[in-house]
Amino acid sequence: MSRPDIDLTDPDRFVRQEHHGMLAWLREHDPVHWHATGQDTGFWALTGYDDVSRAYLDHTGFSSESGPMLGGSFRSERDPSAGLMMVATDLPRHRMIRQELHWAFSQDMIRRVAEQVGTLVTAALDRALADGGCDFATDVATELPAGAVMAITGVSHRDAHELIGMTRRMIGFRDPHFADPTEDERLVLAMTQADIFEFFAEVLRDRRKKPGPDLVSRLLGAEMNGRPWTEDEILYNCMNIAVGGNETSSYTACSGLEALTGHPEQYGQLRTRPTLLDSAVNEILRWSSTNLYVRRGALRDMEIGGRTIRGGDVVTLWNVSANRDAKQFTDPGTFDLARTPNRHLSYGVGLHRCIGAMLAQTELSVLFRQVAGLPAVFAPAGSPRRLRSNFINGTTSLPVSLHGRPKGA
Ligand code: HEM
Repeated sequence: MSRPDIDLTDPDRFVRQEHHGMLAWLREHDPVHWHATGQDTGFWALTGYDDVSRAYLDHTGFSSESGPMLGGSFRSERDPSAGLMMVATDLPRHRMIRQELHWAFSQDMIRRVAEQVGTLVTAALDRALADGGCDFATDVATELPAGAVMAITGVSHRDAHELIGMTRRMIGFRDPHFADPTEDERLVLAMTQADIFEFFAEVLRDRRKKPGPDLVSRLLGAEMNGRPWTEDEILYNCMNIAVGGNETSSYTACSGLEALTGHPEQYGQLRTRPTLLDSAVNEILRWSSTNLYVRRGALRDMEIGGRTIRGGDVVTLWNVSANRDAKQFTDPGTFDLARTPNRHLSYGVGLHRCIGAMLAQTELSVLFRQVAGLPAVFAPAGSPRRLRSNFINGTTSLPVSLHGRPKGA
């Protein structure tokens, strides 16, 4: 394979799905790659499964406090949410935040989410059946986070969708479909973040007056180091859960449906063998690798794969590449719903491993169980529209047809 022109920062290359080729080349020829972005600036890109997993697990060597995403700056500066928002906080504070947030991911909450998502997905699929199709991205997939947000925060269906609109704009800050391309990217991000804060500040005001069995009421009574959580801590972590869960689960659902329609034989297997569901959901997660990479900052000098990484350097861990590493996965380019074992890195690994992983598995299982049980089969009915992002692998429009007998007919 000749060396492709490599640019992991250009969102348009991801829209055109060129990242698989760039990353395959790097994995093979330059797995610890210095990605220059200017004369003296740049970041490291780790693309092999072993290097990515080891970096995730090295909590003294790497910090999360520069935030999860590459921004305008490629220096390892602190993110304003560092030490406040769980995903951008290192030990020991990270553990204290995570302990309190665990409540939102308990068995009881997972049952509530499954019930809520089940009801919403049934209604959305019934509508799609009656109409002979839908835009799966906007009509069905967004009901996954809607159900989760309703169960966790106690807000209405309408408010949940309002919040999803905001998190979608935040993750889509470089996508002209969500943000004005003439605006400064940092400003767009800051403004959407302010909207999300305002949304949760209103919920907070409400719950102060009338507490309920929801996360916000719970955090109002939570303590950190013997003092109550500050309002900033509550808002940042509500935002972390909303941004962490809304886009990832619905975009993974879209990738899953697209992969099924693109692999009719696998789709048929899922329809006839319900026992495939668990491994199918994991294969969909590996295939999608929705969270394409995470960002870390090196805390000391270290050697990886014969290259010297200096303390202060920015390091990116490419989940999407690790998930296609032939040293870890047999035939990684094959979409195989029966794949076991399947130790994909789509949720990361180590201390920051996705706290919503069980919840996401539940949402996706509820959806694909219902999709597999439909008296009809989805088929593509137009070109999908890809999210313009190098951070999240998303599909913002997925027109599909669905023909068959309505349930009970
Ligand atoms: C398919 C769905 C999902 C994917 C692919 C995904 C992916 C990830 C990844 C890769 C991380 C690790 C970040 C890091 O190491 O820096 C993470 C962390 C996190 N995720 Fe998810 N996620 C998903 C669903 C969810 C859901 C449903 C929620 C909440 C409702 C959620 C909330 C979070 C939070 C709060 C963190 C930070 C954890 C920590 O720092 O300890 N995620 N997620």
